[in-house]
Amino acid sequence: MSLERTLAIVKPDAVAAGQAGRILALIEERGFRILGLGLTRLRTEQAQGFYAVHRERPFFDGLVRFMTEGPVIVAVLEAEDAVKKWRDTMGATNPAHAAEGTIRKRFAQSIERNAVHGSDSIENARIEVGFFFSAADLI
Ligand code: CMP
Repeated sequence: MSLERTLAIVKPDAVAAGQAGRILALIEERGFRILGLGLTRLRTEQAQGFYAVHRERPFFDGLVRFMTEGPVIVAVLEAEDAVKKWRDTMGATNPAHAAEGTIRKRFAQSIERNAVHGSDSIENARIEVGFFFSAADLI
């Protein structure tokens, strides 16, 4: 195991539903250190850029519309094995398959409106953190 960073997003559905505080509390309870934190509303081009790997997927336009419909919270999390640890804390992408005790089991409505995002690899975490934060922003 090694000390890693990952990017977390509390998506517009969870922010609008007033669940952001509980999700941030869970992040702290699970032992992540929050190195960077912000509230922002993605512009269409930003969401398209962030999810560029999914450009050809049939759900791409809906995903971009959803991610721009309201504010999101972006956070840089640090922990041992942070990428996997945050993915385990979120649960499966589709809440119907998410394990008990995970954020998506508790808060997500569907595979698209699924409350939270997390980087899927150390390399993508580096890219995704850089999408929202400069090195000087991180405590
Ligand atoms: P996220 O972890 O943010 O990464 C890509 C997102 O695309 C994913 O969460 C879901 O919100 C969305 N997504 C993935 N697969 C599907 C799908 N089959 N239908 C709709 N949205 C999807």
